[in-house]
Amino acid sequence: MCGIVGYVGKNQAKEIVLNGLTKLEYRGYDSAGLSLFDSKVNRFEVFKETGRVTELKKALEMTLESSVAIGHTRWATHGKVTRENAHPHVSRSGRFILVHNGVIENSDVLYQQYIPDYDLKSETDTEIIAHLIETFSKQFTVDNAIVTTLKLLEGSYALLVIDKETPDIIYAAKHKSPLLIGLSESGGTAIASDVLALAGYSDHYVPLTDHSFVVCEKDKARFFNFELENIKPDIYEVSSDILNSDKGLFDHYMLKEIEEQPSVIRQIIQTYEVNGVIEVDDVIVSDMKKSDRIYIIAAGTSMHAGMLGKRYLERLAGIPAEVHIASEFAYHLPLLSSKPYFILITQSGETADLRASLKAIEHLKRPVLTITNVKTSTLAREATYFLDVKAGPEIAVASTKAYVAQASVLLILAYALSNKSYPVKEVLSKLANNMEVFLANQSMDSIAKDFLDKRHAFFIGRGINYDLALEAALKLKEISYIQTEGFAAGELKHGTIALIEEGTPVFALISDAHMNHQTRSNLKEVDARGAKTCVITLRSLSKETDDVILEDVDPLVAPLLLVLPTQLLSYYAALQRGFDIDKPRNLAKSVTVE
Ligand code: G6P
Repeated sequence: MCGIVGYVGKNQAKEIVLNGLTKLEYRGYDSAGLSLFDSKVNRFEVFKETGRVTELKKALEMTLESSVAIGHTRWATHGKVTRENAHPHVSRSGRFILVHNGVIENSDVLYQQYIPDYDLKSETDTEIIAHLIETFSKQFTVDNAIVTTLKLLEGSYALLVIDKETPDIIYAAKHKSPLLIGLSESGGTAIASDVLALAGYSDHYVPLTDHSFVVCEKDKARFFNFELENIKPDIYEVSSDILNSDKGLFDHYMLKEIEEQPSVIRQIIQTYEVNGVIEVDDVIVSDMKKSDRIYIIAAGTSMHAGMLGKRYLERLAGIPAEVHIASEFAYHLPLLSSKPYFILITQSGETADLRASLKAIEHLKRPVLTITNVKTSTLAREATYFLDVKAGPEIAVASTKAYVAQASVLLILAYALSNKSYPVKEVLSKLANNMEVFLANQSMDSIAKDFLDKRHAFFIGRGINYDLALEAALKLKEISYIQTEGFAAGELKHGTIALIEEGTPVFALISDAHMNHQTRSNLKEVDARGAKTCVITLRSLSKETDDVILEDVDPLVAPLLLVLPTQLLSYYAALQRGFDIDKPRNLAKSVTVE
């Protein structure tokens, strides 16, 4: 949620921060702001605009020489979308300027306790931080004033602070919300909440651990804990797939990411293949084998991938598995088995609801595995183990390739736990091939036009395709704003069928031979009540009248093939309506608030 970028060095800070904010806009895009040191007039200026980063760029069109800047793109939590609530926020005298990502839970209490007579300029939980730092700076050095403030804050934060009295330093701090320090031999120090914003400016980066405080200067960064003791940072290289993360020839990231899915599957096979054999780290497997039940915890699309994972673990490995919505699990723990094993599934590795879940099970001291697309993420670090899904950066807010990658890695994990008679490599290779066959010849644009002309729609499926129906419905509603429900095909008649009217679009997902007949019967029931029905199925189960036919794959991975037409349906529905496909309203890619 929200994006933060800062830069101090000999290059143009304004350009670096604005480019970074543009790359991070997918994390929050209701307002944007920036503060920079204008060396011509020798002072810091603050610019803020509601709307997208392009609005901010317009406000900054005049040439400004700057070697220090901090910027922010916001996804509103505390306070409406207004210029006053946009970051940066400034302390009362104007000395301290800061941007913040996260939520300060005790901001009201701190206000009453320390500065009850202050007139706040914004409704945010952030402004108070600037005032507190200034208050403490009257007694302490700046470093001490900042860490004294940090120790009072409850909640989550990634913070960049500028002190006008030392204009060539950016102070950075992190607790729970992600923040990375980018290092470069030649080009200064960049700071960002996502490695994407560092690409092109930094050769290496340090993902900060919780309770880190960093003093960033043009040629170095010094790392401390909140006691101001030096800490040794873990340094990673900025990899080439991050450098290549632009849209290329595609109009939208979402389409690019849909098209990338066959290569993502091949990349996963390559990653998990050792000497011709598909393998998962022995330690992970043996710990799982010693447990009596697996608890999968996730949110959104990752939760839908988890539902497939449950089927894989139960069918291939014979280990019972449960799937939980992270925000529910965190505060309503189910009755756990005696030897539970926990799997967190998360594209970003930063989702706050998952972090809260992790906290809720910490005391059990049981193994936790994070399956994520970001190996340097907080949840990858905090879990006992992690597995990389290797999908490459996913920029569109609506998740596509991460879903397919997560489910594929879960299949590999289930295989590794099984007696290994399942031909996992062949199954995944065939899936990648048949994805390509479909993508080369699809006509989902015209199906979207024909079928999606109402305010509501349904996806129905049974078994593994019920899991897919939930994901297909989420995708369609989040980017086209068509109210869509995913439903177990057989359950529709027990109430929800009342919603079917003349022309209501109903998409049936069919890939299991033993449920083909039943699902088609359910489709007939809605057809008889006026629904406009569309069948998405595999060649061997198809009828001549079916609308979307894909080449056969193994039943366990069929949802990963059938998901493609549903993703494209959503894409074209949003395109035809003129909506912002990569940045749908009200959403954010990485949700770091509970
Ligand atoms: C947000 C995104 C979804 C995503 C969910 C979970 O709501 O918009 O696309 O599925 O978060 O995120 P995670 O990073 O944990 O997979």
